Amino acid sequence: MTAEVLVAGSINADLVVSADRRPGAGETVLGGDTVLLPGGKGANTAVAASLLGAEVAMAGAVGDDANGRLLLGSLREAGVSVDLVRTVDRPTGAAYIVVTPDGENSILVSPGANSALEPSALDGAFDGVRVLVTSMEIPLPTVEHAVIAGAEAGARVLLNLSPVAKVSQRALAAVDVLLVNEHEAAWLLNSNNTDPRNLLELGPYSAVLTRGAEGALVVTADEVVEVPSPRVEAVDTTGAGDAFTGALAAALAEGSTLADAARLAVKVAAISVTRQGAQPSYPRAGEVD
Ligand code: RIB
Ligand code: NA
Repeated sequence: MTAEVLVAGSINADLVVSADRRPGAGETVLGGDTVLLPGGKGANTAVAASLLGAEVAMAGAVGDDANGRLLLGSLREAGVSVDLVRTVDRPTGAAYIVVTPDGENSILVSPGANSALEPSALDGAFDGVRVLVTSMEIPLPTVEHAVIAGAEAGARVLLNLSPVAKVSQRALAAVDVLLVNEHEAAWLLNSNNTDPRNLLELGPYSAVLTRGAEGALVVTADEVVEVPSPRVEAVDTTGAGDAFTGALAAALAEGSTLADAARLAVKVAAISVTRQGAQPSYPRAGEVD
């Protein structure tokens, strides 16, 4: 199997509840009905890229349970190859998500099966891969291996460093595009000097800083390009960053420049926030203009 985009990442069942506000410590808040939706930062990215027309394979792990079957089904339905998704002896990953009326979310992830995704799951996976995308919620050694092996195999390497964590310098130096949001950038830069150009000092060749409704900044050694987002009414921002990442990967696999890829990605992410959930909110290529 060869795919132009390989995503190594998490696969979660999203249990989504709307509530007027998120509970504080020791507090109980009543919310709406639970909605079960396909999610996980990795699977979301794979689905977003596939819906835009890229040929996508997912490497990941699910449990031998109903959620695992649901998630494999949604990946297949979006056209993603699941040959590299293992079924392991852990419950399928789950994300407990509270969505408030402003469209913002808080997410608690129980990684479950995602924790069993070992570096060896990627053996032989890079043939014909033009773009390797990975994100957190899988073991750090697997992320680092994916990045380094992907770069060695000649793929462009995208790292969506979400949720943010410390990644080895060797791995960061193999990253072509580091994707972070403002919180993640602040954590990484660890200072008051959050000039996005400083992200390149961590080692990646380029970086994209997503800024929610403000769009994105594309950072290279030569310039910082501002990519504004279309104005939309946010219903649910869950998975907007993953939609952005998937769109960026799909466009780069087609040979777009990074700035053009980011222009597509802000539109895709903007559409995604106008609809509920992560994967179910992602547009197909024809819907984007
Ligand atoms: O980025 C959004 C995703 O984060 C959700 O789908 C949830 O599963 C968590 O992984
Ligand atoms: Na959404």
